[in-house]
Amino acid sequence: MGLSTREKLIGLLSESEKFSSGQQLSKELGCSRTAVWKHIEELRKEGYIVEAVQKKGYRIQHRPNNLHPGEIKNQLTTKKLGQNVHFEEQVTSTQEIAHRIAMEGAPEGTIVIAEQQTTGRGRLGRPWHSPKGSGIWMSIILRPNIPPQQSPQLTLLAAVGVVQGIERSVGLNPQIKWPNDILIEGKKVVGILTELQAEADRINSVIIGIGINVNTPKDAFPKELETIATSLKAESSGNDIDRSELVRSILIEMEKLYDLYLDHGFTPIKLLWEGAAASLGKRVVVRTLSGEITGKAKGITEEGILLVEDDFGDIHRVYSADIELPKND
Ligand code: BTN
Repeated sequence: MGLSTREKLIGLLSESEKFSSGQQLSKELGCSRTAVWKHIEELRKEGYIVEAVQKKGYRIQHRPNNLHPGEIKNQLTTKKLGQNVHFEEQVTSTQEIAHRIAMEGAPEGTIVIAEQQTTGRGRLGRPWHSPKGSGIWMSIILRPNIPPQQSPQLTLLAAVGVVQGIERSVGLNPQIKWPNDILIEGKKVVGILTELQAEADRINSVIIGIGINVNTPKDAFPKELETIATSLKAESSGNDIDRSELVRSILIEMEKLYDLYLDHGFTPIKLLWEGAAASLGKRVVVRTLSGEITGKAKGITEEGILLVEDDFGDIHRVYSADIELPKND
């Protein structure tokens, strides 16, 4: 997917602190100077402060903290992930849109991202709180040539990618709680929901939904989430975090992992996942639909299933559950 004129313009204006002349821009973009001026007016309406000085040209002085495709794709060095961005201000759920466009043939690596979700979906049929402007609500479409049973591996891969992206862009060191909650100081900052479009033996697409509380103020979580959820901003310096830069870092890290996975299988990803896991070797309480087990989290299998050893030495294979970690362990 090529860049639109507007996306190119953001890229050109961001490349240097220097001014770009109207003539230069119109040449590089292949449109008239009036068209350049119109695009700049559009950017201004969206909160960009663009300085215009006679005989010098244009320069971006301030960019809004938005998730527009032009911002995300600016300096995005991936080959697939995020090269096609479907952005909307408000959606029901980015998962829903991703499912639709995946059916319609959206290419691998397409992302769907929104400022707000009205009915964000969590794991196990729960709702996902997705307020306007403060988070990253995004779904990534992948089309790996693997058997459907192996798709949980991609959830674990996504969790590692998000952790690495956060480390790279924000400098925090989150931990993963099986299968895919990402925690800081024991509170949840990211949730991941993987859904499949598949036939019995063939995947059409895997849709990885990632929800990140980025700039949510500490006191803005609803009562029921107050003690269990946090945001990256609340856990760091308190300054607003650039969301499009964070999206970019995650896409870059995830693509590296995905290529590694396609070339060498799950083993290297498993090692990285275990390196970032909060629960391994610890006593956990596992709540499944069929009951509760207390025991020690021993590790994950090659399929991404959690192994828990109970107090009688029996090993349980946990496919889907809520895990409670001990406090201060
Ligand atoms: C969880 O329960 O921990 C998973 C939460 C996943 C939320 C993300 S936000 C983007 C995507 N769209 C959704 O409706 N859900 C996922």
